[in-house]
Amino acid sequence: MSQPLRNDDPSLRHAWHPLCRSSDVATTPRSEGLLGESWVLWRDPTGEVRAFRDQCPHRLAPLSLGQCELSGIRCGYHGWRFDESGQCVEIPALGHDAVIPPRARLSAPAGVMESHGMVFLAPETPVSPRPSLSVDGDTSFTRGDLPVLRSRACAGLLADNFLDVAHFPFVHAKTFGADEEREVPPYHVERDGLTFSASYEHDFANREDPAVASGLRPLIQRRRLTYRYTAPFHLELAIEFLDAGGTNVIGFFLTPEDGETVRIYSSLWRDDLDGSSERMQAAIDFEVEVVEEDLALQSRYEGLSLPLDPTIELHTRADRTTLELRRVLADFVDLASSAPHA
Ligand code: FES
Ligand SMILES: [Fe+2]
Repeated sequence: MSQPLRNDDPSLRHAWHPLCRSSDVATTPRSEGLLGESWVLWRDPTGEVRAFRDQCPHRLAPLSLGQCELSGIRCGYHGWRFDESGQCVEIPALGHDAVIPPRARLSAPAGVMESHGMVFLAPETPVSPRPSLSVDGDTSFTRGDLPVLRSRACAGLLADNFLDVAHFPFVHAKTFGADEEREVPPYHVERDGLTFSASYEHDFANREDPAVASGLRPLIQRRRLTYRYTAPFHLELAIEFLDAGGTNVIGFFLTPEDGETVRIYSSLWRDDLDGSSERMQAAIDFEVEVVEEDLALQSRYEGLSLPLDPTIELHTRADRTTLELRRVLADFVDLASSAPHA
């Protein structure tokens, strides 16, 4: 039977994870934690992101304390210089005609890529799909990034919480929960490999719709919520306003930093704000409040792991998506355990 999934489970090495926002990578080295390890990254003069384990092969010093030079990096301890492929090309203590030991190279990840305003890294050959969102390629949407949130939490439990709809009236009573119905309407989940989606429609009070105040539309309107999940921790919620028009998309990407810490990279995509940066900022502030309501509970879990054995917890018909999450993650762990190493 599957073991509970912790942030530092070795299977998670076989997936794409956000390391930082693209806009935070500069021509000076930066260190970011992932799965209990540190990675150093920088942008080379051609604009490409380079990333390696943040550890010099000489005396294992953190390379992020060094300097970028040409396209590569120079260690701040004894000045060994590595080119953009991670190969050592200079050992100052050995002079100009030094013979460089072949093992003097940096550990590279299986992959680095930029997408959706983030840098993603896969430590080893990924078995799950690259990050994607339903708004990809649709230029009618504008993106607004939440600040990166860092918390004591379990990434699996946060993914579970993002997909959960029955907690709205209780955890989010101070933000949007008061207007939510308690009963979860029937819905079904469509699985496709290591991804799934779930969609349902319900009535809600659209207090933001200006046409309600002028009597053009009723207060109670219809909206469709579509959740899309990709293993292990890429999530999306699209909210379509079926009466008032417009779509809000929330992207939610989790980085398991170590056994006890998660970073949350969340962004909003909106097609209904007429380019207003004030309205986007108000939407971001509201979303931060909502996530903090969730974290107040999620950060207090005693055991920071997500049970993958379905007999450990109790599941009801309102929990179909979150039960599917456990099934997909169990399959992900199985696939990753037989995947080749980078
Ligand atoms: S530890 Fe990096 S050069 Fe010595
Ligand atoms: Fe929530």
